Amino acid sequence: METVVSGIRPTGNLHLGNYFGAVKSFLQLQNEYNCYFFIADWHSLTTNPKPEDIVQSARTILAEYLACGLDPEKATIYVQSDVKEVLELYLYLNMNAYLGELERTTTFKEKARKQPDNVNAGLLTYPTLMAADIIIHKAVKVPVGKDQEQNMEMARKFARRFNSMYEVDLFPEPASFSLSEKAVKIPGLDGSGKMGKSEGNCIYLKDDAETIRKKVMKAVTDSGPTKPNSEKPEVIQNLFSFLNIVSSADTYDYFEEKWNDCSIRYGDLKKQLAADIAAFNAPILERIQEYAANKELLDKVARMGAEKARESAARTMKEVREIMGFRNK
Ligand code: TRP
Repeated sequence: METVVSGIRPTGNLHLGNYFGAVKSFLQLQNEYNCYFFIADWHSLTTNPKPEDIVQSARTILAEYLACGLDPEKATIYVQSDVKEVLELYLYLNMNAYLGELERTTTFKEKARKQPDNVNAGLLTYPTLMAADIIIHKAVKVPVGKDQEQNMEMARKFARRFNSMYEVDLFPEPASFSLSEKAVKIPGLDGSGKMGKSEGNCIYLKDDAETIRKKVMKAVTDSGPTKPNSEKPEVIQNLFSFLNIVSSADTYDYFEEKWNDCSIRYGDLKKQLAADIAAFNAPILERIQEYAANKELLDKVARMGAEKARESAARTMKEVREIMGFRNK
């Protein structure tokens, strides 16, 4: 079976946009591939988080992904820092990664601009750590967003470079599996096209019915249609797109009709939409709370995942050391 690897940046809670994007893809991939999904806690060090936040955010992310249906029996789910073998490969790859190419990465330039007082070497070598994450399991596919394309190109380059330097065929070139193309787009409710953390317009999976209601009732609308069967402006289209995802076809058709004959009341639509989102969310929310309350279970899942991931990583590293001239003890 082909191997898939993906890293999850531990930045806060999952929202509906994440759910219909990355999470749903992961749920499908875990049935079809030998998947390694990990929480990239080492990568998060590039911004110097507090120790307590590192543990806490790893637990939160783990609980939320499990609640969504990521299955530790099907996929290897682990925390990056539990697999120290990755560090060794990171070191080796760094010896053949050049300052020029690392400095040219857009993600590096962007982050350097964002945190000018902390342009650390970890930031610079982010792509080598990411490459190590991927090729240590000899992954052939990596589900990532568009923003990761350049990092993926670097990963392929480092894999090729290792192979050609040592005249081996050890690492396959990992292909990107674009999440953005396959995802159902979840619109923002603030008039922006897309739900996203940086947009501050998210409905989180951990939101309860009342929180969801408040957020949806605040959604931006207009003064209403003036002519029958008119085209919907973007903010209204966003609400309908949302209905289309979480509500029944009858509900959708009902409001479509009301729109078309100009009798639509946005308050009613929002109330219905909020209820349907909350109903969709309810079982996930319940499982998030169950997992969050069960630290032992979370730790057990992480331990199980780490064991499987280390096995695979150790196998590759044994080959790497042999090829490079280091002894395997
Ligand atoms: N850089 C990825 C992101 O920001 C996270 C990540 C780290 C990753 N290592 C990875 C993704 C390996 C895929 C494979 O989203």
